[in-house]
This record gives sequence, structure tokens and C-alpha cells, in this order.
Amino acid sequence: MYTAPQLLEQINSYIASLAFARFPKDLYSPIEYELSLGGKRIRPLFLMMAYNLYKEQVESVYSQAVAIEMYHNYTLLHDDLMDRSDMRRGKPTVHKVWGENTAILSGDAMLVLAYQYIGKCATEYLKPVLDLFSATALEICEGQQLDMDFEKRMDVEADEYIEMIRLKTAVLLAASFKIGALLGGASQADIDNFYKFGIQIGLAFQLQDDLLDVYGNSANFGKKIGGDILCNKKTYLLIKAFELADQDQKTELHKWLSVESCNGDEKIAAVTELYNQIGVKQVCEQKIQAYYAEAMRSLADIQVAEANKQELINTIKTLINREV
Ligand code: IPE
Ligand code: IPE
Ligand code: MG
Ligand code: MG
Ligand code: MG
Repeated sequence: MYTAPQLLEQINSYIASLAFARFPKDLYSPIEYELSLGGKRIRPLFLMMAYNLYKEQVESVYSQAVAIEMYHNYTLLHDDLMDRSDMRRGKPTVHKVWGENTAILSGDAMLVLAYQYIGKCATEYLKPVLDLFSATALEICEGQQLDMDFEKRMDVEADEYIEMIRLKTAVLLAASFKIGALLGGASQADIDNFYKFGIQIGLAFQLQDDLLDVYGNSANFGKKIGGDILCNKKTYLLIKAFELADQDQKTELHKWLSVESCNGDEKIAAVTELYNQIGVKQVCEQKIQAYYAEAMRSLADIQVAEANKQELINTIKTLINREV
């Protein structure tokens, strides 16, 4: 069995060895740019870790690992357009460097490339893997649409938010684990438990991302702090802030959410101050820990030697307590 750093090293060098320098340059350069900026690469890592619990030849799933990472990076190109984000992984976003049309088209090309890579799969697994990949991709579109719909709504409830992040984020993490387990020849029960585990980790992961969007350090996080506040994103922090605020705090929050134009930094500072007064950071942290505990129960049901699960547990712990 490999350690997580060893698997990361393998997937990183494999991705670095891929050449996308084709004509026209302005279609492919943004793809190389986005992939060269790295990121945490947790999705291909999870796919390989799940596979490696059953089989040793991890190089046989490199293509599917790349497919998931390519797909993820495609969603980022489009997400940054939708969220009007200027910075990712500490660098200007593709639409800032090449323009909006390029972000759309290079993103589309990445989606096609992702399908080419996922399809390089043993015939016996091709149909289940493709079916899962397509169902997941469609769910992510649904989640992204809900995320945008929620920007304009003031009555989003915590349950709706959880369902939105399940769709936009958790299903891809779950699919990564599931594809790894499936290709590793796991039992149907293990495959299903890996999917459940991935959903719970994915929910915790997106909650932590939302938390870092307010409380992170931009240099580490690689994104602008306060971006979600500027877009009126209905995050768990905001939903809970409304739920727990007193009347004055509610009025103040409403005021900031309905201003037509204002100084962005002032809005971020004011809303963050309200979050601090109301104490929603702790509420969010508790929710993250609750999903983590649930995830550990699903992992306990997976029928592989307990000692072999430790590497995965350590990786997950680091991830949901991350600062980047
Ligand atoms: C960003 O994902 C989008 C979310 C689902 C929060 P990551 O935080 O995994 O981004 P990278 O790939 O590490 O940059
Ligand atoms: C990302 O959600 C979900 C997808 C990209 C599908 P966010 O919008 O919170 O991700 P970041 O914060 O921009 O990475
Ligand atoms: Mg988004
Ligand atoms: Mg975004
Ligand atoms: Mg975010």
C-alpha cells in the first residue's frame, strides 16, 4: 500500500507529463495553465486511495484519476466566471487572463478531455463508470444552478443549502471514492459505503471551504477572502447568522444583502463582524465535525483491514481542518 504523499507524487508527475500543447494555442494554454497551478488534487488522490485498499497497481487507474481532476478543473473555469472570482490558487483566473469566451470554451474542451480519459477503462467497468460519471456531472450542474438561484433568495434554509452543496461538491468526491473502489474490485456493499463516506466528507469539505472564504488567509487559501459575502452566497454561515441573529443584527444583515452598490471591502468587514458577534464560525465548525463523525461510521462499515484505513483517516483529518 502507498502513502498519500506517494500517491500524490505519482498523480502529479503523471499530470505534468501530459502534453496539451495543440493548436489553437488559446484553447489549450488555459488548460495547461489551470492544471499547472496544481491545487490539492484530493479527488484523484481519493480515487487512488480507495483503489489501493483493494489493489496494488495504481498506475492502472491514472487515466480515471486524471479524468476526475480534469473534470474538476473544468468546473472551476466556469465556476469562477459564475462567481465573478478574479483569483484562484493564488493566480489570476482564466477569464481574467484570457477573457470570458476562452474560459467557457477551454472549460468545454476540458469536459471533453475528461470523458476521453474516463473512457480509458477496462471494458467490464466502462458502463458503470461512465454512468456514474455522467450522473455526477449532471448533478453538479444542478448544484451550481441552485447555488446561483440562492444568491437572489433571502429565505434559503439550512436543509436546502446542504442539498445544494451535496450536488455541487459532495457527489464528485463520492464518485471519486466509488470509482476507485469499483475499479479495485470491491464488494457492492463496500462500493456503496464508499459513496456514502464520500458524500459526508464532501459536505464537511464544502462547509470548510465556505468557512475559509470568510476566515481563511488569502495567501494560503489562494482565493479572495470574502468572495461569498460579495456574491450574497447563501452559505451555512449566512443562513445560521440569520437564524441566530437578534432583531438589530437581522436588520443590519438585510441591509448589507440588499445594497445595490457599495464598497466591497466595507461589506465584507461588516458582514464578518456580524458573523463574529453571532458566533456562526463555531456553529459551522460543529456541523463539520458532525459530518466527519458520520463519515467515520461509514468508513467503519467498509470491509478492509482497520490498519489499512489509517492513511485515509489521516488525510481526511488534515483536509477538513485545513487552512488552504
Ligand atoms: C474548490 O475545490 C471547489 C470546491 C468544491 C470547494 P478544491 O478546494 O479541491 O480546489 P483545488 O483543486 O484544491 O484548487
Ligand atoms: C465550487 O463551489 C463548486 C464547484 C466548482 C462545482 P465554490 O464556488 O465555493 O468553489 P470556490 O470557492 O470558488 O473554489
Ligand atoms: Mg461557486
Ligand atoms: Mg466559486
Ligand atoms: Mg468557495
